[in-house]
Amino acid sequence: MTGMLQGKTAVVTGAGTGIGRVIARRFVAEGARVLVSDFSGEQEDTAAELGEAAVAFQADVRHEAEIEEMFAQALEALGRLDISVHVAGNPGGRWGEEITEEEFDAFTQTHLKGMMFCCKHAARAMLPAGGGAIVNFSSTASLNYDPLISFGYSAAKAGINSLTKGFAGRYGKDGIRVNAIAPGFTLSEKNRNVPEQVMASLSARAMLGRAGTPEEQASVALFLASDLASFVTGLTIPVDGGWTARLA
Ligand SMILES: NC(=O)c1ccc[n+]([C@@H]2O[C@H](COP(=O)([O-])OP(=O)(O)OC[C@H]3O[C@@H](n4cnc5c(N)ncnc54)[C@H](O)[C@@H]3O)[C@@H](O)[C@H]2O)c1
Repeated sequence: MTGMLQGKTAVVTGAGTGIGRVIARRFVAEGARVLVSDFSGEQEDTAAELGEAAVAFQADVRHEAEIEEMFAQALEALGRLDISVHVAGNPGGRWGEEITEEEFDAFTQTHLKGMMFCCKHAARAMLPAGGGAIVNFSSTASLNYDPLISFGYSAAKAGINSLTKGFAGRYGKDGIRVNAIAPGFTLSEKNRNVPEQVMASLSARAMLGRAGTPEEQASVALFLASDLASFVTGLTIPVDGGWTARLA
């Protein structure tokens, strides 16, 4: 590790498991102090693993009041906020018009509403530090149609790409950069157990012919959060092994 985030502070949502947990681990290895947040309780395990550099906070991103409290706690525990990575998300859902109202509400509340208010309060928390970097987790599903993926999930993720541009525009002159990562099929814990046929089919979508790893998502999050990306904002970057570059 090269100390890319030495002296920086960060919030990571969805850090109880999966990609969020790996990002928190990577940021700490690069020198950051991190508030790790989740609604599941597993943020405590992540913080225990990471030791003194991490603080746990339980927050459900469907509720603005909990998000506001999370960023207040980050400022209190870490002293300032330089980076906020919004990973919390709920996958799945029925395909096409078979989606239920309940599922649609669950997607939009977690992904779209959650991202709106995480960005709002992250930006406010960063202003006193004179700038910062926000990284939102979208999906390749936000960019193009795929028959295996729920319309409701894709639409909520597409809204994240729009919010990313909106916040980048609003806060650019304050030195706050806002970007999104659109992962392709990635082997977080839950995806290691999908049926073999689904695993083969989703892996084959990538030009590289395989699934991505949480570490590969974390590497791009690290770049976007770091000063190496100082002139990069408003973008949604596919990290998908070439999935979205294909015609079919
Ligand atoms: N893994 C993939 O293949 C893939 C592909 C495209 C996009 N993504 C996106 O990347 C992100 C991470 O994916 P993952 O595979 O690590 O998922 P995951 O399900 O393993 O982890 C998501 C985490 O978010 C937390 N979470 C869910 N709802 C929450 C809420 N309302 N408030 C707070 N925390 C909540 C969960 O407890 C969990 O710890 C998600 O936003 C997902 O949509 C993942």
